[in-house]
Amino acid sequence: MWKVVWAALLLLATVCVQRGYTKEAKGAQSLGHVSVVIVGGTGDLAKKYLWQGFFHLYTNQVSSGYSFSFYGGGLSPNDKATPILFEVLKGVVCPRELSVERCALVKEQFLRLAEYRQLNTSEDYQALGKHLTEQLRQEGLVEAGRLFYLSVPAFAYADIAEKINNNCRPTDGAWLRVVLEKPFGHDLSSAQLLSTQLGASLKDNEMYRIDHYLGKQVVSKILPFRRENSKHLDLIWNKHHIERVEIVLKETLDAKGRISFYEQYGVIRDVIQNHLTEVMTLLTMELPSNLSNTKEVLKNKLKIFSALQRLDRNCAAIGQYQAYNAEVQEELSKTREHFSLTPTFAGIMVHIDLAQYEGMPVILTSGKMLDERVGYARILFKNDIFCIQSHSSVHCKPKQIVFSFGHGTLQYPAILVSKNLFKPDLMDTEWKEVTEHKDVSVLGLPISDYYVLTPTVERESYAELILHIFQGRKDSFISAENLLASWSFWTPLLQSLADTFPRLYPGGADNGNMLDFKLLGRKVTFANEALVMVTQDHMGGSGRESFQVMQGKYRSADMVSAWPEELIVRLAGDLQVAAENAVREGGRFHLALSGGSSPLALFQRLARHHYSFPWRDTHVWMVDERCVPLTELDSNFRTLHDHLLQHVKMSYFNIHPMPVQMNQRLCVEEDSGALLYESDITQLVNASSFHFVLLGVGYDGHTASLFPGSKLDASGNSLVAFTESPAKPHQRMSLTLKAINQAQKVGVLVMGKSKHELVTQLSRVKDNPKHWPITGIRPTSGRLVWYIDYDALLG
Ligand SMILES: *[C@@H]1O[C@H](CO)[C@@H](O)[C@H](O)[C@H]1NC(C)=O
Ligand SMILES: *[C@@H]1O[C@H](CO)[C@@H](O)[C@H](O)[C@H]1NC(C)=O
Ligand SMILES: *[C@@H]1O[C@H](CO)[C@@H](O)[C@H](O)[C@H]1NC(C)=O
Repeated sequence: MWKVVWAALLLLATVCVQRGYTKEAKGAQSLGHVSVVIVGGTGDLAKKYLWQGFFHLYTNQVSSGYSFSFYGGGLSPNDKATPILFEVLKGVVCPRELSVERCALVKEQFLRLAEYRQLNTSEDYQALGKHLTEQLRQEGLVEAGRLFYLSVPAFAYADIAEKINNNCRPTDGAWLRVVLEKPFGHDLSSAQLLSTQLGASLKDNEMYRIDHYLGKQVVSKILPFRRENSKHLDLIWNKHHIERVEIVLKETLDAKGRISFYEQYGVIRDVIQNHLTEVMTLLTMELPSNLSNTKEVLKNKLKIFSALQRLDRNCAAIGQYQAYNAEVQEELSKTREHFSLTPTFAGIMVHIDLAQYEGMPVILTSGKMLDERVGYARILFKNDIFCIQSHSSVHCKPKQIVFSFGHGTLQYPAILVSKNLFKPDLMDTEWKEVTEHKDVSVLGLPISDYYVLTPTVERESYAELILHIFQGRKDSFISAENLLASWSFWTPLLQSLADTFPRLYPGGADNGNMLDFKLLGRKVTFANEALVMVTQDHMGGSGRESFQVMQGKYRSADMVSAWPEELIVRLAGDLQVAAENAVREGGRFHLALSGGSSPLALFQRLARHHYSFPWRDTHVWMVDERCVPLTELDSNFRTLHDHLLQHVKMSYFNIHPMPVQMNQRLCVEEDSGALLYESDITQLVNASSFHFVLLGVGYDGHTASLFPGSKLDASGNSLVAFTESPAKPHQRMSLTLKAINQAQKVGVLVMGKSKHELVTQLSRVKDNPKHWPITGIRPTSGRLVWYIDYDALLG
C-alpha cells in the first residue's frame, strides 16, 4: 500500500507522508500513474546518470499530479541486488532549488517508490507485468504510461523488447516508451537487422533511441540559437562566408577496461557516427519553421544525410594510441602476433552537396589519449580584410562562433560569438550573458573578444532527455530513418578503412604535432608525413624483448617497421589476415612469393606458428625463378619447398612452380614457359589479381627478377616474362610490373643492416623503374606496404 504515494500530498505536510493519503486526494489530483523500469538498473550508466535523471524527473513532477513507481531490473536475484540498488539510490542529489528539509523528504519518498526486481526469464517479465497491473487495480489508479529504459548491451535489446511486448504492455489508453542506448548496430546491415528485430515487438513511436549529446544544453540550443539570431546568420551561414566547420571531441582517457567493446567499434562508430554527426546535422540543416515540430526537425535532418558526399579512405586520417594493441592482447587474451587496426583517433572531412555549402569542409574529429578533454563545434568564417597593423584591429582576429559543449579551458557550457561578428540576441531566460571572465583563451581568441552565453542553470543531459521522454517529445532522439541514413553514410568509409594502418601515437602531450592533419582538396593527410619513431615504454617488458612495431610512411606508401623478429611476426599476421579475408570472400587465397634469403624466416614462422592458416584454400605462386632445375638448391621453388611447402598441408594442385624447365631444356623462348604460366594465372586467379604478392629488393633496386636497365617494358601487357640478371644464373623468369601492380596487396620485405644504404637512397629517389625497378611497384588499385626492419631502416 505505502508504495504509491501521492506527490501532491508531499506539499502539505511531512507527517502525512508515511501512509497517510486518502482516496479522495488521489481522485482529485490524478493525471495517472507512471511506472518506470530501468533494465540494467544496477549497471554503470544507471549508477552514474540514470537514477539521478529519474530522481530529477520525480522532483520536477512531484507536484504535477502524476504518481510514480520505479523499478531497477537486473539479472541478479533480489536478495543480492536490492542492497546494491539502495546504495545507488541513496546517492542521488537534489536540485539546488530544493531546501535541505524538502530534499530529505522528497528523497525519502523516492526511495519508498523504488524497488529491485530480477528480470531475467520470460516468467520474470510476466510477473512484473502482473505486478504493475495488480498494483494499479489495488490502488484504484488510472495508468498514464510505462517507461522501460534498456541500459543493457545492445545484443539483449531484441530479446527484452519481445518480453516487454509479450508481458508488460500497459493497460488500454496508456503509453509505452522504451528507451535504447547506443550502439544501434555497427554498420548499415546490422542496424537494419536490429531495427527489424525491434520492429517486431515495438512500434517506432514507442522507441526512444537516446544520444546523450542531444541532451547537452549547448547542443540542444543550436537550433534555437540559429533561429534567434537569424537576422545576423541568414546572410553568412553559407559557403561564401564560412571557411570551415569543425566538430571536435577530444578525450584524455584510454579504452582500458572496455576493450572488448571498443575493439568492435573504434572511434568512428563510438562517437563520430552518432554524437558528432548529430551536431553536424543541427548546424547545417535547414531551420524548421517550427522548432518544436518533431516531424519537421527530423525531416530536415534527413535532407542533410541525403546530401552528404560519399566518403572514401582519402577523406580520413586515422591513428591508434600506442598502448592500445597491448591492451587488446591482454584484455582479449590474444597472442603477441595479434594486431589491431582499430582506430582510436580519426580526422574526417565531409562535404555537403547543397548549393549553400558547396566546397565548404566540415571536419569531424575525435580521439582517445589526446592532450585535453574538450568538446566543441566551431564555425570559422572567412576573413577578407587585410590588416596593416594586425594586432591593433579586431577585424584581423578570427571570426568565429564556438559552441562549447563542456570541459576544455572554459569550465562551463557556452556559446561564444567573436565580437567582430555580431552581438547575439538573448531571447531565452534560461540563458544569460557572461561578462566577467577568467583570463583564458578559446580557440585562438582571448575570452574577452567574445560575447559569451551560458545556461542560467547547468543541467545534466540525461536528466534533460529523461524529461523529454516523459513529455513524449521525440525531436531530441534518433528516428529509425535517421539512424539508417547515418549508417548508410558511414558504412562505406568504415569498410574502406578496415585494412588501413592507423598511425601510432604515444598519447597525451607527447603526441606533439603527430596527429595534425591537413586538407588538400578532397583529401585528408597527416600534416607530418615524416617517419615517426615512437618508443613503447608503456607496453611492458623492456629493450628488445618488448614488442615494438612502428608505422609510418615510406616513399608515400605505408610502412611497418620493427626489430626483425617482430617484423616477421607482423608480416605473418598480415598474411594470415589477408588469407582469411580472401577465403571468406571468394573461397581462395592467391599468394605469390619471391625467392631470396629475406623471406626464409617468414616461411619458417608460417610453417611453425600459423596452424590456423587456411592452407587448404591457398594457391602459392612464384614471383620469379632462376633458370635451373627446380630440384637444385639455387631454385627459388626448392627454397620455398624446403622451408614452407613441405611443412604445411597443401594440395599439390595448388602449388604453382614456374615452368622454367620444359622439354629437358631451361628457359627456351619457343617452349613458351612464360606464356604457359601466364595462362595458368589468367585461368585460376580472378581478374589475374593476386591477393598478396611478397617481394624483396636487391642492392641495385631490383625486385622480383626485374633488373635495372632490363629491356622489359614496364607498360607491356604480358604478366610473365623471361629476364636477364647481371648475376649467375643470368636467365630468369619473372612476374612483370603489370602482374604485380594488379595485385590487391604488395608487401616489400627489406631486412638487415646491409640494406640501410639502399633504404636511405630509395627514400630520396623519384619513381624511375628503368634505374630502380622497385620504384615501378605502384599497385593500381591495391595497397603497397613496406616491411622494413630497424637494421635496414636505421643502420
Ligand atoms: C537467467 O536465466 C537463465 C535461463 O533460464 C539461467 O540459466 C540463468 O542462470 C539465470 N541467471 C540468473 C542470474 O539467475
Ligand atoms: C509548433 O509545433 C508544436 C508541436 O507540433 C505545436 O504544439 C505548436 O503549436 C506549433 N507552433 C506553431 C507556432 O505553429
Ligand atoms: C573477381 O574480380 C572482380 C573484379 O576485380 C570482383 O568484382 C569480384 O568480386 C571478384 N570475385 C571474387 C570471387 O573474388
